[in-house]
Amino acid sequence: MNHFEYRGGRLHAEDVDLAMLAEEVGTPFYCYSSATLERHYRVFSGAFPKGTLVAYSVKANGNLAVLKTLARLGAGADVVSGGELKKALAAGIPAERIVYSGVGKTAREMRLALEAGIYQFNVESEPELEALNTEALALGLSAPISFRVNPDVDAGTHAKITTGTAETKFGIPWQRARTVYARAGAMKGIEVVGVDVHIGSQITDLQPFAAAFARVATLVTELRADGHAIARVDLGGGLGVPYARDNAPPPDPAAYGAVIAKVTGGLNAQLILEPGRLIAANAGILVSRVIYVKEGEAKRFLIIDAGMNDLIRPAMYDARHEIVAVEGPGSAGERYDVVGPVCETSDCFARDCALPAMKSGDLVAILSAGAYGRVMASAYNARPPAPEVLVKGGHWSIVRPRMSEDALVELDRLPSWLEG
Ligand code: LLP
Repeated sequence: MNHFEYRGGRLHAEDVDLAMLAEEVGTPFYCYSSATLERHYRVFSGAFPKGTLVAYSVKANGNLAVLKTLARLGAGADVVSGGELKKALAAGIPAERIVYSGVGKTAREMRLALEAGIYQFNVESEPELEALNTEALALGLSAPISFRVNPDVDAGTHAKITTGTAETKFGIPWQRARTVYARAGAMKGIEVVGVDVHIGSQITDLQPFAAAFARVATLVTELRADGHAIARVDLGGGLGVPYARDNAPPPDPAAYGAVIAKVTGGLNAQLILEPGRLIAANAGILVSRVIYVKEGEAKRFLIIDAGMNDLIRPAMYDARHEIVAVEGPGSAGERYDVVGPVCETSDCFARDCALPAMKSGDLVAILSAGAYGRVMASAYNARPPAPEVLVKGGHWSIVRPRMSEDALVELDRLPSWLEG
């Protein structure tokens, strides 16, 4: 459920007319709906027992305004870099609700997180464990950790967003877990608190989750028998969202919650969850204007002013995002390949997309673009990425302005031998 709908034939974000907004801020732009973010957060957290930490995965959409909207509802944060940690803290997410994942935490980033006093490090390798122990001891602290275990379960999602199989760089092999926990248990700068798992993203089948979580549950029992005080299980993110109307709807948070309750209910451990996409994807759209309608030899192209530099998901993951006309859903009787201006064939948002007859200057909205959209944008082709707007009821605000082309040029520096 989201709050983008047609009123009088014009697409609105909550009570804001998007064609009006396009006039005000220019195109392309991302537009997020506060009500949708809030609803998704509430529905998701409502599917779990009291005391569960819902640590929103900042990587999905790290705009400060988005983070603060969620922070006000009590969200924690799952961060993967010093930058994300700083963003989460700046948005008012308390350190004791922040977990830190990722295979390549540097000593500097560890120090930042230790000094902030975060809730938990999700450690992904033995060298990382050693480095964290060293940094914690140097600061006279002890770092609360879970190991991210790799359960070797195939989540059945796109290969580029699969993380829970033995071939991926993530986590420690579950077969080695007890040995590694024993090492950690003996370290003065480390406090073992839990077990962590994350098997991938855009997962639309609950079975792989159940299989992975069952491994975690068994491991928790074994680790407790080994003498570790396992008080938390972090089950990561990954629950998929509907991207297109004709897709089978993915399982809802309640069904996911039921699977988790069944597998981990008896463990008497705090649950931590790290949803990203589920909170943000359908709370955001990318609004773009048609530059040209081009009649090709074999195809008709809608060339729009957003490009793969703004939204890379179709090019990178073959992702399908629904595209609609902003003014008038119309008959959708025409077919277009919707493409951007970037000089790459992969700069294509949709093939044979059904839309009403479009002309230069018309607006389209690329839906479900709130997660892994603007955060993955680049300035490729020297195109400043799309700005971001947050809507709340009838109010809207630019929460990340458009960078000018001149500002982009000024970011480069000339070495002394090329000056003048
Ligand atoms: N926790 C960890 C440790 C993760 O690696 C991820 C996502 C999440 C939580 C959040 O997963 P979510 O609930 O959003 O599925 N750029 C890709 C997705 C990459 C996901 C990476 N990890 C895309 O656009 O599909």
